[in-house]
Amino acid sequence: MAERLDLTVDLGRGLRLRSPVLVASGTFGYGFDAPQVDRIALGAIVTKGTTLRPREGNAPNRIAETPSGMLNAIGLQNPGVDHVARVYAPVWASWNVPVIVNVAGDAIDEYVAVAERLDSVPGIAGLELNISCPNVANGLQFGVDPDQAAKLTSAVRAVTRLTLIVKLTPNVTDVVAIARAVEDAGADAVSAINTYVGMAIDVRRRRPVLSRESGGLSGPAIKPLALHAVWQVAQAVRIPVIGIGGIMTPGDALEFLLAGAVAVQLGTVNYIRPQAAHEVHEGIAVYLQEHGLRNLRELPIRSASVLTHA
Ligand SMILES: Cc1cc2nc3c(=O)[nH]c(=O)nc-3n(C[C@H](O)[C@H](O)[C@H](O)COP(=O)(O)O)c2cc1C
Repeated sequence: MAERLDLTVDLGRGLRLRSPVLVASGTFGYGFDAPQVDRIALGAIVTKGTTLRPREGNAPNRIAETPSGMLNAIGLQNPGVDHVARVYAPVWASWNVPVIVNVAGDAIDEYVAVAERLDSVPGIAGLELNISCPNVANGLQFGVDPDQAAKLTSAVRAVTRLTLIVKLTPNVTDVVAIARAVEDAGADAVSAINTYVGMAIDVRRRRPVLSRESGGLSGPAIKPLALHAVWQVAQAVRIPVIGIGGIMTPGDALEFLLAGAVAVQLGTVNYIRPQAAHEVHEGIAVYLQEHGLRNLRELPIRSASVLTHA
């Protein structure tokens, strides 16, 4: 049944995915733990945030369970861009699924150096700029200011021919302003959203559960918030929007696609049901079939309220 449908997605600059269902940064490592069969069903794998130099991440506790979600403060643990380019990318080049490297840094120069190192490396299909990590010092500085976000985006744009996705933080007053700024600065797509800053306190020990005190909240708890962010951003920009936040089921993913996302990323659910991406892909196909739709471009609904875009 699914074969007759067109579930492909165009993320710009030649990056075409066979499925709108991707796995989100930080929840799928660098793709090596998934059996081959799982990888082939994915639209793309987005890697753990990768920095110029290796990082050990934060001390434990780095994860806490919350009602309908989880808090994490991993702190960008990763082996550094050189290892990713030399050791991981050649393996990815032999996989039948695009790998998008999530890039992080403390300064514009660092992002630029990582992007330069990854440009033209076989096996890397695109870059996702994490301008929104709540779990490292200065992590949010680029994502909360439209000018900074634009500066970073255009600096990276200047050194890479890869498809450039900018991942937005919801920890802002106006996510639309940031989305417009990075679109104008040359982003091919935006992904929305990263985690919401939160915390948990251990009542018995009388101290925060996470070593860094605060962390990023993800999972079903954030879905309505993320959906609203995607709804707003999708009506404000012309580039593709990738929806992220609390997606557990095909129905959740469809809400994001109806809200205007061209694709979705699954994060926390990968810890609970590693096969979720496959189930969500199949569920979307069934829905299109049942509603007499042949492709995803027929899905988005528009807001009835009058939105004025200057
Ligand atoms: C353990 C963990 C690690 C994460 N690491 C990153 C990261 O390195 N870079 C990034 O952009 N997002 C990272 N994220 C955020 C996710 O990619 C995603 O945006 C967020 O979890 C919301 O989606 P979800 O509710 O489906 O998990 C991480 C999330 C979790 C739970």
